[in-house]
Amino acid sequence: MSTKHFLTLLDLSRDDINRIIQRAIKLKAMRNQGEIYEPMKNKVLGMIFEKSSTRTRVSFEAGMAQFGGSAIFLSPRDTQLGRGEPIEDSAKVISSMVDIIMIRTFEHDKLVRFAEHSKVPVINALTDDFHPCQLLADMQAYVEHRGSIQGRKVVWIGDGNNMCASYINAARQLDFQLVAACPEGFDPDAELCKQNADRVTVVRDPAEAVKDADLVVTDVWASMGQEEEQQERMKQFAGFQVSPALMDLAKDDALFMHCLPAHRGEEVSKDMLDDPRSVVFDEAENRLHAQKALMEYLLLGHQ
Ligand code: CP
Ligand code: NVA
Repeated sequence: MSTKHFLTLLDLSRDDINRIIQRAIKLKAMRNQGEIYEPMKNKVLGMIFEKSSTRTRVSFEAGMAQFGGSAIFLSPRDTQLGRGEPIEDSAKVISSMVDIIMIRTFEHDKLVRFAEHSKVPVINALTDDFHPCQLLADMQAYVEHRGSIQGRKVVWIGDGNNMCASYINAARQLDFQLVAACPEGFDPDAELCKQNADRVTVVRDPAEAVKDADLVVTDVWASMGQEEEQQERMKQFAGFQVSPALMDLAKDDALFMHCLPAHRGEEVSKDMLDDPRSVVFDEAENRLHAQKALMEYLLLGHQ
């Protein structure tokens, strides 16, 4: 059997995603009840981080420890990857010593090449193009608060970035409509939009976009690696801030999500994260449960 990887949401079927979400909800309940569950004793997770992280690192490392296994944090500052050792050689070597690997990097192609040469499952922990682990956590949070997302209207506000691209994949995989309100020049990838034309619409007016929305989502205006564009982007994205007033134009029971970290006063108003419609800290916590369910699936199959 070939090794299963999780590079984008398209690597899982709709049924797989729904089962992983249900399993994540179960693992969350088990943890809340103090149940010890250690299906990964002696298993090792390799964690390659070429970009910063709080949630992703803590959730993967804690999740593996809770499962009875251990994790190794690998930064390019300390490994030969950072000194130019080819990605293919690194993949062969690291995957000969650990059981599962997660990678946060820049070019998506680097992740794909690593996975091609890895003997063990590889998980995308964020690339410039996609952030599928966050979507598992977000979809879990939606299901917990509102039930199935199938047939719902989800509105993305702001940059057509890696998170937006993963929302497009989620729309396809979980059968919902996505409206992306982006300033001109910051649309999601054109090819991805074309492939999902039946599910994705790109518009310019956030107020118009959020009408009838069940879920409103945003993210920072300048992603990791775009720090030099921050000032220019602040100008381009003016008018794309999510606030309680904007949320008032959505459905009465609409939820608000943000993968975090957030910049209050930029993509979100100062009070947005504390609004009762915001579930951002549930989303963040769910990174732990959803990724435990994902690792379990990749290593042990559906439970
Ligand atoms: N949302 C997310 O991936 O957060 P970190 O960058 O802190 O891992
Ligand atoms: N779009 C953001 C997400 C951070 C979790 C970035 O890539 O920096």
